[in-house]
Amino acid sequence: MKVLVLGASGATGKLVVQELIKRNIQVRIVVRKSAILPSQISDDKGIEIIKGNINDFEVAKINELVKDCNSVICCLGHNISFKGIYGPPLKLVSNTVSKIIEALKSQHINSKFILMSTTAYTNGKINEVNDFREKLVFTLLEVLLPPHKDNMLAANKLVNELSSKTSVEWVTVRPDSLFDEDNVTNYEIHNKKIRSPIFNPGKTSRINVSHFMVELISNDKLWQEWKYKTPVIYNKE
Ligand SMILES: NC(=O)c1ccc[n+]([C@@H]2O[C@H](COP(=O)([O-])OP(=O)(O)OC[C@H]3O[C@@H](n4cnc5c(N)ncnc54)[C@H](OP(=O)(O)O)[C@@H]3O)[C@@H](O)[C@H]2O)c1
Repeated sequence: MKVLVLGASGATGKLVVQELIKRNIQVRIVVRKSAILPSQISDDKGIEIIKGNINDFEVAKINELVKDCNSVICCLGHNISFKGIYGPPLKLVSNTVSKIIEALKSQHINSKFILMSTTAYTNGKINEVNDFREKLVFTLLEVLLPPHKDNMLAANKLVNELSSKTSVEWVTVRPDSLFDEDNVTNYEIHNKKIRSPIFNPGKTSRINVSHFMVELISNDKLWQEWKYKTPVIYNKE
């Protein structure tokens, strides 16, 4: 098994790579030339590091990237800076999801795609609803914050557009407010949000998100339980 990790230089992506390595799973990562990687990743000869901006990759390069990878974990996100929020590429995540899915489909082999999303995504297909106040805030966020819109588009591509009849299976993992912690702790997974991400947010450590995503890849029973779903992950209080 080889796993392609996108956004591997990010706060969660790095932890995903480290968790995969710990489990002796082969890893290929794509990072920008400017990315700063911890030495455990940059010095590890077992990790295949592709340098470049995934957003600029043409179809042929994307096809090459997913070749011999039967799983992809996407932890891409817009940097929290003025340029990262309002500058191009405004559709970094959703365009990458589309391109990777097309490349995986063209391989005609069973593959798994995991998107790191957010509880700001509301899955209408499972009758999740926002109350009036949440609707108002999310509508404003879509207008004012391009990364929010991009994250919604990315999740919709899987939930609403990717048929379960293709060779690509997917899970959209939805953490609540992210924070950093050194070790994996107890966490809980729910089919739907159990609290308002705006008015009563829960907490999710990045290391727990990375652990759950790698568990999904490694544990077929867990994958069967969550495939084509949008699980929400909270740290246990
Ligand atoms: N903040 C929260 O509480 C929260 C809650 C739930 C979900 N989320 C979502 O979770 C995801 C991951 O979060 P995180 O904190 O781990 O993210 P992060 O540390 O900001 O990592 C983002 C990754 O995306 C890459 N990236 C950013 N802009 C790029 C561009 N223009 N072109 C190519 N690559 C680019 C970064 O590369 P570089 O290292 O080169 O910059 C990095 O690898 C995000 O989508 C976020 O929206 C956040």
